[in-house]
Amino acid sequence: MDIFRIEGPIGLSGSVCVSGSKNASLPIMAATILAAGKSSLKAIPHLSDISVCSELLGRLGCKLTRGPDGDMCIDATVIDNPVGEYEIVRRMRASICILGPLLARCGRAEVSMPGGCAIGDRPVNLHVKGLQALGAQIHLKNGYIIAEAPNGLKGKDIFMGGPFGSTVLGTANVLMAATLAKGRTVIESAACEPEIADLANCLNEMGARITGIGSPRLIIEGVEQLRPARFTVIPDRIEAGTFMVAAAITSSELRLRNCRLDDMMAVVDTLRNIGVTVDADGDGCVVSRQGPIRPVDITTQPYPGFPTDLQAQFMALLSLAEGNSVVIEKIFPDRSMHVAELNRMAANLRKEGPTVIVAGVKKLIAAPVMASDLRASAALVLAGLAAEGTTIIDRVYHIDRGYERIEEKLNPVGAKITRENV
Ligand code: EPU
Repeated sequence: MDIFRIEGPIGLSGSVCVSGSKNASLPIMAATILAAGKSSLKAIPHLSDISVCSELLGRLGCKLTRGPDGDMCIDATVIDNPVGEYEIVRRMRASICILGPLLARCGRAEVSMPGGCAIGDRPVNLHVKGLQALGAQIHLKNGYIIAEAPNGLKGKDIFMGGPFGSTVLGTANVLMAATLAKGRTVIESAACEPEIADLANCLNEMGARITGIGSPRLIIEGVEQLRPARFTVIPDRIEAGTFMVAAAITSSELRLRNCRLDDMMAVVDTLRNIGVTVDADGDGCVVSRQGPIRPVDITTQPYPGFPTDLQAQFMALLSLAEGNSVVIEKIFPDRSMHVAELNRMAANLRKEGPTVIVAGVKKLIAAPVMASDLRASAALVLAGLAAEGTTIIDRVYHIDRGYERIEEKLNPVGAKITRENV
């Protein structure tokens, strides 16, 4: 198992390139199931979640090859085993996003019911509700969701909102299924995340007829068939946000290439309130901080609000603010495994339900800490860059799920992170 050894505190300077988006790539890879033939995708990041998704598609019958950089070819000519096995789904719950496209393509799908994970229960009731509205018969058997639509799917008006707002992968599943349904589907309270807009743009490039992209009302006119995709995925706004915090927490200046500030307005606004300068520059931006870290209050929300996937990283930053901040997690109220670990590094965080009160401290002090989930681990890396001494992070595989060799991106700009296999 790999660990990180991080020496701090360090300063950063130079330029870092942001990879293609993990959370856009996963549903777009699943979308290739919808069309028989060879899809060609670009900017697919090299991550363990992408490898798991590749294995998942391979078991269905697809043939995958990776080219240079982020190129990926998926040949979905034959889908002869429409089953998402427990053994894969338990490793990556985003595997659920094959349910909609498999059902639309094959008239039947069996996908293991994803369990909870370190960030909470993570139900899929809205995915099921949406697909049922399109005419699918769905039942649960031996831990598997069995979805059937022997006579095809039929367009419908569907309200997809839930107790925590919209659902990203639920929207993806119903959107993909609706592209091949007979007639018109309206998804109201659809997720507006840029990753869903990217998926919709990819589907349109494949011949789908989707309007309202980026809005909470998606309108889909079903088509007979789709053609294979040729598509480049958007840059990863969460990786970009993590690098922005890296610059801010180390009081440094970093240039980010391949970064769409347009997708990150809530994040950039929060950084500016904290006292961080973010200026657009070419295909990216320059991020720097000179003055003190000012405390701010953050509430996570569906897009365009502040993303839950950057909550932990900002908590690491606010740990060093001159004053008290309040961070409220409204999407995954239990997403707080990093709180205890950051406190081991001398942060002063107090959790009250979904709220964490962050009392700023003068410095963080290195400690051995445990990565618990992807974004919590990223927060520990960031804290390690600023902390005094050697931080050791165990269970680095969590980071590798969503960050492309983070140490190889941060070391050339001044970080001192070594990966060790123990
Ligand atoms: N929810 C329901 N019912 C459902 C589905 C979701 O009540 O059927 C609730 C969830 O429990 C949660 C809220 O709705 O409270 C939002 O969950 P959502 O379905 O949007 O999450 P997701 O689609 O499973 C994606 C990302 C997550 C990201 C969330 C929220 C991918 C592969 N995953 O998950 O990313 O946190 O949206 O933005 O796109 C990560 O990258 O680290 C990560 C966890």
